[in-house]
Amino acid sequence: MFMSCGGSEERVLPKIGVISSGRGENLRHILKAVQSGYLKARVVIVLANQPDAGALQIAREYGVASEFIDPAGSSRQEYDQILLERLGIANVDLVVLTGYMRLLSPAFISRYKNRILNIHPALLPSFKGVDAFSQALQYGVCWTGTTIHIVDEDMDSGPIVYQVPVPVRPDDTRETLKARIQRTEYRAYPRAIKMFLEGRPRLEGRRLLIDRPDTVL
Ligand code: GAR
Repeated sequence: MFMSCGGSEERVLPKIGVISSGRGENLRHILKAVQSGYLKARVVIVLANQPDAGALQIAREYGVASEFIDPAGSSRQEYDQILLERLGIANVDLVVLTGYMRLLSPAFISRYKNRILNIHPALLPSFKGVDAFSQALQYGVCWTGTTIHIVDEDMDSGPIVYQVPVPVRPDDTRETLKARIQRTEYRAYPRAIKMFLEGRPRLEGRRLLIDRPDTVL
């Protein structure tokens, strides 16, 4: 179900494909973690559905192949087939979503079953969907956070890999809370990917059991 990472490092470094709609700050921190040797993997391709996605520029800065794929005129199935083709050519082992704001089709999910990760800016299953920051403020929780999870057919619902809580302060605005959560994300995502790649993940029902290698970033 999952990839194995033993043997000669150069030969078996897992290949990551990133799909993004956004600024790409999570991508930047994943690339930094790869560059520093913390994350023993290679980011081989970055795909975006927005022409001005910051992720495309960041990929270029790090010398990673990147491409804007225009969703105009394609159904979700057709669009995902194009994504699958690009990821297949790059021989990707693990798909990492960073702020990708479209639902993946069942065909995509089944092609990379249990090998797609997403980050969501809340402690799932709370505050799924858009603007988790405002949802948390409106609900009045004292703690929210970030969740890295496996992507399944439903929105923000797959098995959880890693979560980090973040406090909500009484004087928080949406922007201050967002900034605090996103600072946490930048450490959490590389750590979760490392755990996922090195920790022999296995599923028991929807519980992901994972060994925790030395994940201090
Ligand atoms: C991140 O905060 C991520 O949690 C969120 O989008 C942002 C992307 O930022 N994702 C979602 O809300 C998904 N439901 P980035 O493009 O700078 O990495």
